[in-house]
This record gives sequence, C-alpha cells and structure tokens, in this order.
Amino acid sequence: MSANAFSRLPHPRPTADDVRAAAIADPVFGRIFTDHMVSIRYTEGKGWHDAQVMPRGPLTLDPATAVLHYAQEIFEGLKAYRLDDGAMALFRVEANAARFNASARRMAMAELPEELFIAAVREIVAADADWFPQVDGGALYLRPFMYASEVFLGVKPAAEYHFLVIASPVGNYFKSGAPAISLWVSDDYTRAAPGGTGAAKCGGNYAASLIAQQEAIAKGHDQVVFLDAAERRWIEELGGMNMFFVFDDGSIVTPPLTGTILPGITRDAIMTLARDEGLTVREERYAIDQWQADAESGRLTESFACGTAAVVTPVGKVTRHDASFTIGAGGSGQVTAKLKNRLVDIQRGRAADPYGWVTRL
Ligand code: PLP
Ligand code: COI
Repeated sequence: MSANAFSRLPHPRPTADDVRAAAIADPVFGRIFTDHMVSIRYTEGKGWHDAQVMPRGPLTLDPATAVLHYAQEIFEGLKAYRLDDGAMALFRVEANAARFNASARRMAMAELPEELFIAAVREIVAADADWFPQVDGGALYLRPFMYASEVFLGVKPAAEYHFLVIASPVGNYFKSGAPAISLWVSDDYTRAAPGGTGAAKCGGNYAASLIAQQEAIAKGHDQVVFLDAAERRWIEELGGMNMFFVFDDGSIVTPPLTGTILPGITRDAIMTLARDEGLTVREERYAIDQWQADAESGRLTESFACGTAAVVTPVGKVTRHDASFTIGAGGSGQVTAKLKNRLVDIQRGRAADPYGWVTRL
C-alpha cells in the first residue's frame, strides 16, 4: 500500500481547548494522550492495509491474541518539536523507521515499509499538533508500536500484525529538578544476554528490566545500570538510556553495540557532535570497577545518560552494593552541558543542521 493511502476520521468530539490547555500545562511523561491515533493492519498474503487516522480509543483483543501470550511486540520512541519559528519538526525519523524494522526482523514480525512508518508519524503530528506543550523541554512524544494480532496459541510468528502510533505531550523526563541523577548498579539482574533481544526495542526487554528499576527506586536512586550478562563486569546501559563517560584527556567512551544494548539514535547523534567538537570518541567496553577507580582518581570527569525521552542527563552518583562514588562534583559537567546544548539547539531549529537530522513538517 502507498504512503498516502490513509483514511482520516477526525475525532467527533475533540478535547475542548480549555481542557487540553490544562492537561498539557505540566504533563508527566506518558500520562496524557492526544485525541487521535494511527492504525494500520497487516495480514500475511495481503500485506499492509486499512491505514487510518482515527479517534484514539481502546483496542478490543480476543483473549487468545498472540501478543498476550508470547509477547511479540516492538515499539519506537521519538519526539516532534516545535521550532522557534512555529513549524513542527521531527528528529531523525528515518533512523527510527529503520530501527523499527531491525526490531521487527529480530522478533520475526512483518516489516513496515519505512515510508509508511514516516507517513504514519506525519499523520499523527498533523492531526494533533495543537497538543504541543509550551513547557520546559516540551515535545510531542510519539510512540509507534506493533503487536502480533493473530488469534492463535501456537508458538510461531504471527500471520497478522497491528501497527499503531499514539502521541503524548511531554515535558522533562526527570521531574525532580536535581542537576544529576543517581544510579544503582544491578548485580542480581541483567537486561539482555548475548544472542538475546537486547538490541531490539521489544516490550519484553522492558518487562525484564522492571524489577531492577524497582530495586533502584526502593534504594533511593533514579535509574538502574545494567552490567553484561556473561561476566557481570562491563557497563551496558540503563533501562531506557545509553551511557557515556567523559575523560580528562578530551576523550569520551560509550559501550559498543555488540547486540545486547539498544543502538540509541541519541547515542549516535552525540558521537557525531562530540567528534565535531574535537573530542576523541571510542566505542569500547568499560568495566564497573574501572568507572569507580577513574571517578576517584579524577581521570573520569563526567558521565551522562542519553535517549529520546531523557535527552542528555548527567549522572552524579553511582551505588553498587553499599558503596557509592561521586562523578566529578556530583552535578552536570561542562562537556555534558555542551553536547546537550548542541543537540537541543539542532532539535529545536536554533542551530544549523549540517547532518540533515531535522525534518520540517
Ligand atoms: N536504551 C534503551 C534501553 C532505550 O529504551 C532507549 C530509548 O529509546 C535508549 C537506549 C535510547 O535510544 P534513543 O536515543 O534512540 O531514544
Ligand atoms: C525513549 O527514550 O523513547 C524510550 O523509549 C525510553 C523509555 C521511555 C522507554
């Protein structure tokens, strides 16, 4: 099917202006949703069909729908920004479309033509641009996702899929206002093993991470850091963000994409921006003990996490077992702030975009 084959069913009773204004005045990440959604169906033998922009509403699922049993589900996360001149824009949407299909392949699901993914994202932003929140860090967070919709309990890749896009007005991911986050290193739980699904953006990875994240919160931290499953030694990533380490010799390090971590689009952008800033960027394994030793010796000056939702977030403190160490002065560092500003300025159209990352809508 072609990317312009969407039927449009506007919401018969869209949210009233005053109700919407109140809802987006201070949105908590992922709690508020817009009036519409995009829906496209896939059937083996027929391909993709029935592309619709329609009022957002509940899905009716047969109790034997495959996703409810075997978790064949993938998603993406990207933001639509309002540029300073008022236009809406997407950041690296092609990369999200490509990663979505990489996830689909790993989960033995149907691939969605990239132009259809991008068209679906454009449709939801066009339908719900009024929901853009005028708050610090404000954006329309877009959540494309796909689940196995076939009604069948046999363990096999489904023959039917349902792709949807929903939108959520968001402000900053971390509401605490603290200058840096505190991390808990999980020794008991790992997120992904070699040969597993760590590089795919499938719901199951997040399900597996929740108990460790819960432990981090219970111990008073913001996020969990996962170590590799084989040696429990190498830093992998957080539950929803990639990690970077900044050194006093003008270099930065991020864990390599060996199949167990998500290939973050923000991670990739940060590497490009850092190289342009004259930093040496290395994708290499970094051990948890080394992180502590380097933080204590001062060789490591900053650490930060990054992702679409969290943008660039400084790490101030790390705790493993009962021992903690502080990164730099425990707040945001100069390199982190500079890279964050460079990224955000491009995303918001305040700086030139030499990489072609921004799509104006
Ligand atoms: N790692 C995980 C596990 C994530 O869920 C995310 C968020 O999407 C990221 C890293 C960062 O990826 P991106 O920068 O593409 O949002
Ligand atoms: C994102 O940054 O888009 C994510 O998906 C992270 C998290 C909210 C799951």
